[in-house]
Amino acid sequence: MNFGSDNWAGAAPEIIDAIVRANKGLAPAYGGDDLTARVEAQFSDLFETDCAVYFVATGGAANGLALSVMTPPYGMVLCHEQSHVQMDECAGPEFFTGGAKLLPIAGNAGKLTPQSVAKALASFPHRPPHGAPEHVLSLTQATECGTIYSANELKALCDFAHAAGLKVHMDGARFANAVAALDVSPAALSWRAGVDVLCFGGTKNGALAAEAVIFFDKTMAKDFEFRRKRAGHLWSKMRFVAAQFDAYIADDLWLRLARHANAMAEELSNGLAVTGGVEISYPTEINQVFACFPDGVADNLKDQGAIFFPWVTPGDPANGKMHRLVTSFNTTSQEVDAFLKAVADEMAA
Ligand SMILES: Cc1ncc(COP(=O)(O)O)c(C=O)c1O
Repeated sequence: MNFGSDNWAGAAPEIIDAIVRANKGLAPAYGGDDLTARVEAQFSDLFETDCAVYFVATGGAANGLALSVMTPPYGMVLCHEQSHVQMDECAGPEFFTGGAKLLPIAGNAGKLTPQSVAKALASFPHRPPHGAPEHVLSLTQATECGTIYSANELKALCDFAHAAGLKVHMDGARFANAVAALDVSPAALSWRAGVDVLCFGGTKNGALAAEAVIFFDKTMAKDFEFRRKRAGHLWSKMRFVAAQFDAYIADDLWLRLARHANAMAEELSNGLAVTGGVEISYPTEINQVFACFPDGVADNLKDQGAIFFPWVTPGDPANGKMHRLVTSFNTTSQEVDAFLKAVADEMAA
């Protein structure tokens, strides 16, 4: 009954096998090997466009480094108030950008709209040289509340952003879950909608440590390799990151893993919803369920060995009650059923 995080899951066997296969003989270091070149090129096929791809080891590094080439140090990044870049990266984006300002924006269920972004821009008027000039709109797909932007919603946001002179960054730590849920092409949820730079996550969805920063406008990647090196994210044995993505992309493994994780969350959410007294806080659209339990129930479930954590949003009256339950590529129906039975027993007690 472990719903702590998709980060708690191990790596998919196909990924480990690929690492083992890559562990033969010698290969040029720092991404100069054939496998890295081949897998980087595969991203252009996957996204149906010529793109520049850089591998890093963590989602935080991907976001911070991507933003660092999208804004000058005196610029501003507009983002959701619950976004990972705002809440959970220990000022990493500020550090990597050399001090750019983050402007957090409120929005239902983790999502921004052109209207909410317009309102934020209007409330922070451009007053050179005083107010930081805006440079980037950062979106998370799927969002931190487990919700998804449709391709049309994304297009509306990107069109608005571009018209306002903003570039669009996407934190895609759970991009796979969004693509799997919407059953659209990765291109439709990225550059075709107007996303300029996508941080494409692998780690939460069965990779060991693999994130890709994808530039759909290659000119924006100009300085990226220097920044990645300087940040300590140019792996010397890059072939092992490439091997993970090789297996991840092959035969749509990434989508199969994400579909399974999403399906487990749907089972969990549906089961909780019919258990009187448990409130599902946000629509369950990917592999995350947000739920409010009656007083004491969450603690009792944890006493029985269930693992999940409170979800805290600054200023939210549900704080302390709302919990996040995350499924992964290797969550089983048995685990979900055992948890639902424990919840039902608790509610009946
Ligand atoms: C939405 C989102 N973005 C980025 C990250 C950062 O990933 P990492 O922990 O690999 O730095 C996370 C991790 O929890 C996340 O949930």
